[in-house]
Parts: sequence; structure tokens; C-alpha cells
Amino acid sequence: MNKTALILAAALAVLAGVAHAAGAPAPRMESASIDPRDVPSLQRGARTFVNYCLNCHSAKYMRYNRLADLGLGDQQIADNLVLTGRFEATDAGVQYVPTKTGETMQVAMRPEDAKAWFGAPPPDLSVQARVRGERWLYNYFLAFYRDERSATGWNNLVFANVGMPHALWELQGTQKLVATSFDKASDANAAAIAAKGLALVEPTPDHRFVVKTLAPDVPGTMSPAEYRRAIGDLVNFMAYVAEPAKVQRTRLGLVVLMFLGVLFVLAYWLKREYWKDVH
Ligand code: HEC
Repeated sequence: MNKTALILAAALAVLAGVAHAAGAPAPRMESASIDPRDVPSLQRGARTFVNYCLNCHSAKYMRYNRLADLGLGDQQIADNLVLTGRFEATDAGVQYVPTKTGETMQVAMRPEDAKAWFGAPPPDLSVQARVRGERWLYNYFLAFYRDERSATGWNNLVFANVGMPHALWELQGTQKLVATSFDKASDANAAAIAAKGLALVEPTPDHRFVVKTLAPDVPGTMSPAEYRRAIGDLVNFMAYVAEPAKVQRTRLGLVVLMFLGVLFVLAYWLKREYWKDVH
């Protein structure tokens, strides 16, 4: 018994150590309120996604015509959301063939080129919302700032040294990093909480603590509130792409639970009916 307890304690200690080592300082994030049943929001998110992301990223498990779920007709999808195409050699020479709505969301860029340009290939975004979570994504789009030392001129408070330039900078404008240094961790944490938004507390080699926050620099075409709504819509859409049937799934789950509830009452009543004669 004692041996088991010891082994268990050792395993727990190792696990805690691993968790601690893996945890680079995590930023305090804003919460993202998104609603998968809000169809207009999903439509706006789809528009942002095809306009600003498919240049570099694919969503190769998503077919354009699946957007019909969002109340869009085939023609609407073809006219407004399919912005890509490719050149193909035909008998009449090289011709531009627009992507059909039955195709998946591919990207024209070759992965090798992308790797050379950005240092890392842009990952496929089909299930990215499941990988990172909605809150992370929302804050990722809030967290870009100008950084002259990076190759793209951009850095990110949530994803340090990211290879992606800020795709939505025209909408958000640019931000700059504000770093304040503190002697004590408690003071640094208090300052991070007081910032009431995205903030990162990082220990420095000389045993001090730096609180990193972002301040607006050059304004974009959207106000901060409009931009938050736009990225909320975008993340809502990315969550939809990652799991298009989520709303149906939860609805079906409720129906099944209700059915089981009714069945339970009937079964119980039947059981009493049968056992009445036995006793
Ligand atoms: C100019 C090309 C480019 C555009 C445009 C672009 N991205 Fe990226 N993106 C990249 C690259 C390159 C990376 C890989 C960065 C790395 O790993 O350092 C990346 C990474 C990401 C990641 C992080 C992936 C991870 O590792 O978790 C997400 C999420 C993302 N992009 C979403 C988007 C969305 C949404 C849009 C549209 C608003 C967009 N990107 C537009 C190039 C781009």
C-alpha cells in the first residue's frame, strides 16, 4: 500500500514538473464571446476569412458550398466568397479557371515557398479552432504589435516571434509594446490585472519581472470596438469550420436526453405494473 502511494506521489511530482517546465509564461487574455447560432456573425466571419486569410492559409477540409448552411445561395457564394482560381493549360492556350463552389478552400501558394518567405509554413486552418481554442485565437488577433527586430516587422504577445505578419492591420491599425519592469512578482501581477486586457508577465534573467501590454499606435479603419466584433465574427466562423455540425449536435443531444427521460418514466411504470402481481 505504502509502495503504491509512493509511486503515485512520485508520478504526480514528475507530472507537475513537466507541466511547470512546459508552461512558458501565459498571458492574461480577454474573453471572447461568440455564438455559433448567430448566422449573420458567421457570414461576416466568412467574408473576413476568405478576404484576408486564404491568400496564405488553406482550409482544405471545408468546401465552399458547405457555406449554404449559413443561409447563402450557390450564386452568392460563387460571387462573393470564392476569390481564388488557377491557371490551366487547355487546347485554347493557358486559361484562368475560377474555383468551383464544390471545391475545398485551397491556397495558391506552394508550401515550400511559404516556408522560405515566412520561416514557417502557414498551417491549414480547418481545425485550428479546435487546436488552439476560441479564446486563444481571439486574443491572437488582438496581440499583434510592430517589432522592428522581426523579419516581418510584426510580433505577437500571445505567439512570441510568430512568422505571420498582421493580416488585419488595416482594420486594427498598429500597436506598440509597452514594457514595465517590477522588482516583485506580486507587483507585476497586480499591474497585469490592472491593465484589464491582454498582459504578459515575464521573469527576466536579473530576477525582475516585466509586464508587457500593448498600446494603440497608428489607428486603423475600425474603432477598437468594431475590430473586436470583427475578430469575434472571424473566430466564430473558424469554430464553425472546425465543427460545422456543433449546433445540430448539441440540439440532437438534448432531444435524445428528453427521449430517454420519457422512456425512463414509461419503463418504470411498466416495471411497477409487472411486479404488482409478483409481490
Ligand atoms: C501573409 C501570409 C498570411 C496571411 C495573410 C495570414 N496568415 Fe496566418 N500564418 C501565416 C504564417 C506564415 C504562419 C505560421 C507562423 C509561425 O508558425 O511562426 C501563420 C500562423 C497562423 C496561426 C497560428 C497557427 C498555430 O501555430 O497555432 C493562425 C491561427 C493563423 N495564422 C490564422 C490566420 C487567419 C485567421 C488569417 C486571416 C485573418 C491569417 N492567418 C492570415 C501566414 C499568414
